[in-house]
Amino acid sequence: MHSIFESLARLKIIPVIVINDVKNAVPLAQALVDGGLPCAEITFRTAAAAGAIREITKAFPSMLVGAGTVLTAQQADEAVAAGAKFVVAPGLNPTTVKYCTEKGIPILPGVCTPSEIEQGLSLGLDVLKFFPAEQAGGVDMLRALCSPYANVKFVPTGGLTPANVSQYLALKNVLACGGSWMVKEEMISAGEFDGIRELTSEAVDMVC
Ligand code: 3PG
Repeated sequence: MHSIFESLARLKIIPVIVINDVKNAVPLAQALVDGGLPCAEITFRTAAAAGAIREITKAFPSMLVGAGTVLTAQQADEAVAAGAKFVVAPGLNPTTVKYCTEKGIPILPGVCTPSEIEQGLSLGLDVLKFFPAEQAGGVDMLRALCSPYANVKFVPTGGLTPANVSQYLALKNVLACGGSWMVKEEMISAGEFDGIRELTSEAVDMVC
């Protein structure tokens, strides 16, 4: 397994971030680091994403910063150029997966069906994002996927909360969980970094 995925497994939670203003990037990263979670998936849903990745990796070079919602090979390039160490996608786009694999960029494409899992396997992947986790069957679905796909690890994302994250992490085929509950877009935009640090710290305490 790629060392980046091993690091994600140790951290257990990947904060999924929508950031609208680059000026919030470093204070946000500081809150995550202070809360005990030196990791961030900055989604390419806003124009600030690449700049935020660049600022965070400059300020915290050892932080595990990735790019989310990467829909094209071009975005993967942009993310890596900004300093992203891994990329995440909501779905499995074979063109993007092949491009990242050839370039040695760790990629977590989203899947939610057996056929999509097999497509991932055929592309040489054995770590996949399970998205949208709660809507696609949640813990029960992942448990059902354990037997046929014993060698596949998942990163469930979508609908995870403090109330259900421990159930996901207890599954043997879950590598780590993605979630936005500790880094809500409104909190970031409002500069509520103390609150983010507290929610992050609570999340870390919950899963350790
Ligand atoms: C997303 O789509 O933003 C991620 O899957 C996070 O989902 P969440 O906001 O339900 O945690």
